[in-house]
This record gives sequence, C-alpha cells and structure tokens, in this order.
Amino acid sequence: MAPKCGGAARVPLAGGGAGIFASYVVGWGYVSGAVGPDPGQIITEALGLAAFQLLLATLAMTPLRRWTGWGGWLRVRRMLGLFAFFYAVLHVLAFLQFILGWSDLWATFTKRPYIIAGAVAFLCLVPLAVTSPVSAMRRLGPYWKRLHKLIYLAVGVAWVHFLWQARSDLGEMVMYGLLLAILLGVRAIGQAGPVWSLLKRADIG
Ligand code: HEM
Repeated sequence: MAPKCGGAARVPLAGGGAGIFASYVVGWGYVSGAVGPDPGQIITEALGLAAFQLLLATLAMTPLRRWTGWGGWLRVRRMLGLFAFFYAVLHVLAFLQFILGWSDLWATFTKRPYIIAGAVAFLCLVPLAVTSPVSAMRRLGPYWKRLHKLIYLAVGVAWVHFLWQARSDLGEMVMYGLLLAILLGVRAIGQAGPVWSLLKRADIG
C-alpha cells in the first residue's frame, strides 16, 4: 500500500533540511579549520559520502518495515531518499564550483570514467526524486514501483564511482560494498519469500 505522506511539499522541505544541515557542516568546517588546506575537495567528498550513506539507509527501510511491521519506515524511506538526492545535487555543485569549474560541462562530465559513473548514478536519482510525491505515485500507478527499481542501479553505480575514485586504501569501499551486498541480499530474500511459501504450499498440496 502507498504510504501516506505530505506530497510535493516534502520535496522542498527535504531539500531545505539537507541544505541547512550541509551549510552548517560546511560552515563549521571552515570556522574550525577542520576542512584542511583543500576545503573544496574535502567538502565535495563529504557531500558525496553523505549521499551514498543516505542511499544505503534508504535501502534498509523496506527490510525494517518487514521485520518490525511498522509502516512508518516507508515515510522515513522517502525522506532519506530525498535527502540522498539533495546531497548528491550539492556534491555535484561542489565538484563544479571547487574542482573543475563551470566551463565546458560535457568535457567535465566525460573526463574520467569514475566521473561518468557518478553522472550515471546521479541521472538515475533524478526521476526517483521527481516522482517521489504521492501525487506522482498515484499518477504512475504500477509503473511507479518499476521505475523506483532504478535505485538499485543508482546505488550500484554510485558504489563503482566510489571505488573508482579511490587512490589507495580500498578497505572503506570494500566495507560499504559488503554492506550494500547485505542490504540487496536481504531485500532479494524478502522478495523471494512469497515465492518460497507458494512453492512450499504447492509441495504440501
Ligand atoms: C555528475 C555526478 C558526479 C560527479 C561529477 C562526482 C564527482 C566526484 C568527485 C570529483 C569526487 C572526489 C574524487 C577525488 O577524491 O578526487 C567524488 C567522490 C565521491 N562521490 Fe561523487 N560525483 C558524482 C555523483 C555522485 C553520486 C550520485 C554519488 C552517490 C550517491 C557520489 C558519491 C561519491 C562518494 C561516496 C565519493 C567518495 C567520497 C570520499 O572519498 O569519502 N557521487 N565524486
């Protein structure tokens, strides 16, 4: 069943929340000097990591609902998904502002394979964010669920982007990859659940 939610108003709300929090973190980083000698790089990385972590948290919501039986996780899922998108937007804006500049965007986004992967992940997130309001969910009907399977592609390609940009110490990326594999595995088992029970019943019958 579609979760009850405040509709399109949630989009600017989530964006505003993410923006305020990100500005706080970035502002505090500058003031305290915690962002180091290359703040643009650190800020870009921090925003990308936040977007990726929020995507993972979004994926965890459906299994949580299944285990706890509380439907409210689906509302949390929507907010987390929107936060992930807005952090991804801020990450891309920070990349343009602090790292490569705003000229010749095509060359910028096709410069390196890991950037192409980031751009693909980002493009997958756009239709998900645009169709997140309940009104869009109703309009799209059964296609909404199909369209939202794009999150798997988005998070998978975002992980490749994460892995690809690493220069050394792959431990962190491998850890996130394992977490992602567990989350996807749990969801796959959950989806196979009804099939298994049907097969079992057919066996017994
Ligand atoms: C057009 C889209 C994107 C561009 C141009 C882009 C660009 C970048 C750049 C320049 C870096 C830093 C690489 C370095 O250290 O030199 C980076 C890191 C990263 N990006 Fe992206 N990115 C994009 C999309 C995304 C998306 C959609 C996500 C996740 C949802 C993401 C997650 C990350 C993560 C996790 C890191 C590593 C942060 C760390 O080292 O802690 N990026 N990206």
